[in-house]
Amino acid sequence: MVNHRKIALHYSHHSSWKSLPKEDRELLELAAKVARNAYAPYSKFRVGAALRMDDGSTVTGSNQENASFPAGTCAERTALHAAMTAKPKGAVESMAIVVPQVRGQKPVTPCGICRQALVEQERRQEGPIRLLMGITRGPVIEMFTVDALLPMSFDSGHLPGARRKKRS
Ligand code: THU
Repeated sequence: MVNHRKIALHYSHHSSWKSLPKEDRELLELAAKVARNAYAPYSKFRVGAALRMDDGSTVTGSNQENASFPAGTCAERTALHAAMTAKPKGAVESMAIVVPQVRGQKPVTPCGICRQALVEQERRQEGPIRLLMGITRGPVIEMFTVDALLPMSFDSGHLPGARRKKRS
């Protein structure tokens, strides 16, 4: 017997920052600012990430490249790993990812490796991470969980003998 199944993707498209609450605009502003600290001599593509923890504190990250290209890290993982190093028991509520306003630029969504890292954090904290993916003072795509961006993902539940974590 065959069972056909569908997965729906829910997100909100904001044409500007104006339709978002002040807290979100501040997080986007922080991400836009920190994009200037990117080390991107190879791609010249600067990305900033800012996340808000459940205690209200914020942590930032930018992409850091390397002459050995795969050694570079994206803004999202730079921020996520800094946050979890500082507060291993903390939970990430929201993450803003911002790229500068240039002609034809679309909001960026996290790469596959960052989705994998963020989904594992959702499992770890047993709660969703909200994403705000925007252009400096331009459109923003809002998603309510990273899980939706990486359906049917590989996690510790697939590893024999690994401690099973409840799905968020
Ligand atoms: N990059 C990020 O930092 N975040 C993304 O969401 C997409 C890509 C970085 C990686 C690399 O330094 C540059 O952008 C070009 O891919």
